[in-house]
Amino acid sequence: MIQHVSRRDFFKMSGSLAAGAGVAATGLVPATAQAAPVNTGTNLPYPAKAIGKLGGMKVNEPVTFTYPDEASPCQAIRMGEAVPGGVGPNQDIVAYSVLCTHQGCPTSYDSKDRCFKCPCHFSIFDAEKRGQTVCGQAPTELPRIVLEYNAKNDTVTAVAVDGLIYGRQANVL
Ligand code: FES
Repeated sequence: MIQHVSRRDFFKMSGSLAAGAGVAATGLVPATAQAAPVNTGTNLPYPAKAIGKLGGMKVNEPVTFTYPDEASPCQAIRMGEAVPGGVGPNQDIVAYSVLCTHQGCPTSYDSKDRCFKCPCHFSIFDAEKRGQTVCGQAPTELPRIVLEYNAKNDTVTAVAVDGLIYGRQANVL
């Protein structure tokens, strides 16, 4: 049954609702469920983790490691020529989380195409272009592991992550 509501009654009801909302906002009425703030980054410091010596890295062959913790698989690659974000004397060493940003399947590095490929729904990420998505359903590029190179001891060290690792609300847990 449709009930006719006069313009006057409508404004009276609206006023009551608004007043009720105001009371709730002041905390006099218990607030209903409030959404918890989403943490898309990290408030904790990243660890520094040596992942190997430059001299031990072969061009275009991935080096597997974990960062920032054991549950986060990554790969570093010495591309053989300078690439955006690359470190080392030739600015050619890059690293990424290998977990696909679509649904978290582990990607594999294809040395022929110099890309990371996901076996689940076929997203492809360009290792030479900061892990950018080439095609597929992945919504963002692969998280890039920020590296530093120390010429004194020839060591490549992971120091941070640029991007959110799949399945996490913060990279450092
Ligand atoms: S999980 Fe990689 S494309 Fe879907």
